[in-house]
Amino acid sequence: MIRFEVFDEDYIPERILFREKQMERIAGNLTPILYNSRPINMLCLGTVATGKTTVVKYITSQIDTLTVYVNCQLNKSKQQVFLKIFERLYNFTPPRGVSFQKVLMKTLKKIVEDNKILLLILDDLNFMGDENVKDIINTILKAHEEVDGFKAGIIGIANDVGYASRLSDLSLFHPDEIFFPPYDRGEIEVIIRDRIRLAFGFGAISDEALNKIVDETFKYSDLRYGINLLKLSALRSYKNGRDKIELDDVIDSIEDSMTSFFRKALKALSNEEIDVLKAIYTSDVEKTSDLYSLIDTKIRNMSYTKFYEILRKLESLRFIDTISKFERGLQRIVVRRFEADLILKAISEM
Ligand SMILES: Nc1ncnc2c1ncn2[C@@H]1O[C@H](COP(=O)(O)OP(=O)(O)OP(=O)(O)O)[C@@H](O)[C@H]1O
Ligand SMILES: [Mg+2]
Repeated sequence: MIRFEVFDEDYIPERILFREKQMERIAGNLTPILYNSRPINMLCLGTVATGKTTVVKYITSQIDTLTVYVNCQLNKSKQQVFLKIFERLYNFTPPRGVSFQKVLMKTLKKIVEDNKILLLILDDLNFMGDENVKDIINTILKAHEEVDGFKAGIIGIANDVGYASRLSDLSLFHPDEIFFPPYDRGEIEVIIRDRIRLAFGFGAISDEALNKIVDETFKYSDLRYGINLLKLSALRSYKNGRDKIELDDVIDSIEDSMTSFFRKALKALSNEEIDVLKAIYTSDVEKTSDLYSLIDTKIRNMSYTKFYEILRKLESLRFIDTISKFERGLQRIVVRRFEADLILKAISEM
């Protein structure tokens, strides 16, 4: 019996390794809840697949309070976020035509009546517009002025390590910033091994196959991709009637695993973001300034600010890296992280 579900995206592993410090710090910040007092607000920051969502979900599931998890990539407006909280409280959607103000007040009052503290988790924050994020946070932090006794805490999660500066003009929000560093090769190996143990028990993979998965994961520094590669490799060996993953299974699964990984990441992009990504992967232009002129003149009109925002997003989704170089003055250079063929294929299949 192979437990394939341990490879699923939302599976919370039995052991979350190498994140003790972050877990202790989050738990510490939440302690006031036990004494019916507001927790410390937090921002969990780290690049893709560093365990932020997993850790926050795990810790908050252990605390008895009104926890509402919102993914800001899917719920992009203030209205959508508060509707989620409303639905959690009342177990129904408010009738059509009802005003936002009414939904908000009913939500806040019910939380106070129930004598609860709201713990709002805003995941993938950097995919929501900054103005919306600020509006939501301000509404929560000022709500006690409208409804006496209202208490809440916010855990924001973003995969842009410098995200806090985007909220620096929020005078009421001073979150504790908790960083999730990328895993090194040794840590990746232990995590992958642990996942194999959970799925199959011991000995279900050859050393060469394991090494290959760890190398691939480390090369792209993305554990999510690594776990998916492990899943596809396990499936392949299973289909061939074997109970051990061999090197061939891994090599054979790399391309599919990569394409499915791109497809998912591409869904997070708007049309203009895709255009920039395509331009990067089809032209030989490296300097960001040249890339900007290429896009603005040949592909679509775009402000410089918008262009930089898009580069930042593509970087935080790990499609590209940007580096600085001195070449007749300081230059920003865009570096592709993947083979062009694979990316362009995934775009064409969208
Ligand atoms: N320390 C860990 N121990 C075991 N598994 C882990 C650990 N960290 C991450 N994972 C696994 O890696 C995958 C990605 O983790 P997670 O979704 O928590 O990352 P994230 O930091 O929220 O990434 P993103 O910014 O892309 O949302 C999940 O499958 C998770 O189970
Ligand atoms: Mg996440």
